[in-house]
Amino acid sequence: LARGTAGPDLAGRHVVVSAGGTREPLDPVRFLGNRSSGKQGYALARTAAARGARVTLIEANTGLPDPAGVDVVRVGTAVQLREAVLKAAPDADVVVMAAAVADFRPETYATGKIKKKDGQDPEPIVLVRNPDILAEIAADRPRPEQLVVGFAAETDDVLANGRAKLARKGCDLLVVNEVGERKTFGSEENEAVVLGADGSETAVPYGPKEALADTVWDLVVHRLG
Ligand code: CTP
Ligand code: CA
Repeated sequence: LARGTAGPDLAGRHVVVSAGGTREPLDPVRFLGNRSSGKQGYALARTAAARGARVTLIEANTGLPDPAGVDVVRVGTAVQLREAVLKAAPDADVVVMAAAVADFRPETYATGKIKKKDGQDPEPIVLVRNPDILAEIAADRPRPEQLVVGFAAETDDVLANGRAKLARKGCDLLVVNEVGERKTFGSEENEAVVLGADGSETAVPYGPKEALADTVWDLVVHRLG
């Protein structure tokens, strides 16, 4: 299908998309974060709405304006993102985890600003694991026919790592980006391979994030039957 010609093939469907990157607070002024811009997730939300879906966009720290006709839920941390996804998922036909979720968070939160002390080395930051939202949602589907889509950025052995991650997460589709030279965070373009649990492999050439989003929805529509 060419871009923009799909028509309302997601009409009557509810899709949940997460976007952006979680921030894990250390104290009232500091956090551990990542460079996800949220643009791919927003492109997924916009294109799904254009194809007729009811869209719940769960965004973490993107600073992007709300897309028209989309319900936006704002979260900060991975734990909050998990709560929001679990709340929106029960009546969703599709859940797409495009957000960059911090794998770890600081074990403790200092309610007052952490201060340096003269002549003393800094305290180490102890991290604990965050919940794996994608694996959880894929394992405990509120509806058996629900589709779950994940994202992965890999630097080496992209396809082999992507296949292993798809199996580990138990999702239906995994969009694998190769992180490299011109594929920088925050750009308007993307290039990816979409791996299917059925063994399918769909290459999406370097181009606008909307084109990748439309390919994801094409694959989803095909699987929704
Ligand atoms: N993800 C998630 N919860 C986490 C971590 C990741 O839901 N705590 C989701 C992301 O939204 C993405 C997918 O899992 O859709 C893959 O994220 P990625 O960081 O590539 O996977 P990890 O299992 O964390 O593997 P890695 O050790 O390579 O970071
Ligand atoms: Ca990770």
